[in-house]
Amino acid sequence: MLRGAAGIAAAGALVGTTNLPAAARTRESTDRHCPFLEGAFMPVTEELTAFDLPVTGRIPRELNGRLLRNGPNVLGLEDPRAHHWMLGDGMVHGVRLRDGRAEWYRNRWVRSSQVAKKLGEFYPGPVPPDDFACNTHVIPYRGRILALQESGPLPYELDGELNTVGTYDFRGTLEGAFTAHTKYDAEAGELHALAYYPTWDHVRHLVVDPSGRVARTTRIPVPDAPMMHDFALTAKHVVVFDIPITFDPAAAERGDPVPYVWNRQHPSRVGVMPRTGGAVRWFEVDPVFYSHTLNAYDEGSSVVVDVTTYPAPFYAAGRGTDGPSANGTGRLERWTVDLRHGRVRQRTLDDRPQEFPRVNEALVSRRHRYGYSAAAADMSVAYLTTADGNPPDRAFSNALIKHDLLRDSTQVHRLPKGAAAGEAVFVPRDPADRRAAEDDGYAVAYVHNPDRGAADLVILSALDFTGEPVARVHLPGRVPLGFHGSWIPDA
Ligand SMILES: [Fe+2]
Repeated sequence: MLRGAAGIAAAGALVGTTNLPAAARTRESTDRHCPFLEGAFMPVTEELTAFDLPVTGRIPRELNGRLLRNGPNVLGLEDPRAHHWMLGDGMVHGVRLRDGRAEWYRNRWVRSSQVAKKLGEFYPGPVPPDDFACNTHVIPYRGRILALQESGPLPYELDGELNTVGTYDFRGTLEGAFTAHTKYDAEAGELHALAYYPTWDHVRHLVVDPSGRVARTTRIPVPDAPMMHDFALTAKHVVVFDIPITFDPAAAERGDPVPYVWNRQHPSRVGVMPRTGGAVRWFEVDPVFYSHTLNAYDEGSSVVVDVTTYPAPFYAAGRGTDGPSANGTGRLERWTVDLRHGRVRQRTLDDRPQEFPRVNEALVSRRHRYGYSAAAADMSVAYLTTADGNPPDRAFSNALIKHDLLRDSTQVHRLPKGAAAGEAVFVPRDPADRRAAEDDGYAVAYVHNPDRGAADLVILSALDFTGEPVARVHLPGRVPLGFHGSWIPDA
């Protein structure tokens, strides 16, 4: 069993990663190399505040709000060999845009009890169970800003300047674990989550209704306590990915900070459940590691889900010195679950290394045409470097990718060597314009600028994706490769 809060938080942080290093843990490494403390992953050591940031190009005046991004940024690391990327303390980076100006940049650790202690600050308490500085996502929710983590820790609420307000439990209605990957159905005003926890014999589909309360919880029995980092939502269905990375009590007993392993006895399957609850229909697929959903929708009697996957077996390694010795990177696939004939059709959409697939958020659970993803060489190399130490050439590209899933084509915004690209978030040019094209807006991402040794906030026109960025906001510091974020428009 896990040994208390720290271990369970660790379990949660793990999947937070999905950006996990796939790794065959077949050899004991003796060096002290930890790729997730180096290069584009290297944590920053300070919280910075800077105003009136320099800009190359022109920031669109309609972009009024904040681009926030969360990621692990370990604080006070004593032994690099014991470090695990997914267990780094959450740090949120943010740029505030207003009236064509980049008003400020801030980066702030999420103040969990442990982070507060390490920083010598008072934690207002009480300390919740499984407390952890949520490091995986940051989302807007009904005027609040929530930092999220799966598998145990409560969300932390932040204020508009990234200070931690405290834990958030949806007005006292959240019981137990939450998720890092919520789905907000804008039409229904519902926030959906799929929660898992190492000691549960089920996973929970949660629906937060427009009043902000967890209004419905459906328990879905699953054996072996699998990791479920993300899920999918359509207008009618919830889609659950039950993959063979499962909680390993023996590993937890040994003190493994991320006690999840590839479990050959556990099936790989996709479950489809009516959104209103009810029986789950399961469909077996070949063993695979599923990391993220781009989006999903209903099409006749089928459910279409675009996902990033990794080849099996995919191990949840990535700590210290026995980290990434991998056999694959993320790629984009379309899974079509044919409910009438009871089968799943899997098709590769793009086999180039990539992660963090995103869609125009207004279309979550509805049919989409476009998607956006990122290729960061440091991540690909970390995953693909094998025992001989030679990652393939294709691992070295840095790029943002726009997918046209109707025409089956891509546009690639190539970035220079050393310009590690983080997740690209789509921001509509005018959210109120219901007739605007799906890609009428901007793809915005934090990208490392190797010439300055610091990050730029890069703003691309999604309609001119391969063209020069509309603007590049030059930040005063680095934004280490991390996980997920959101555009949070002014109310
Ligand atoms: Fe994720």
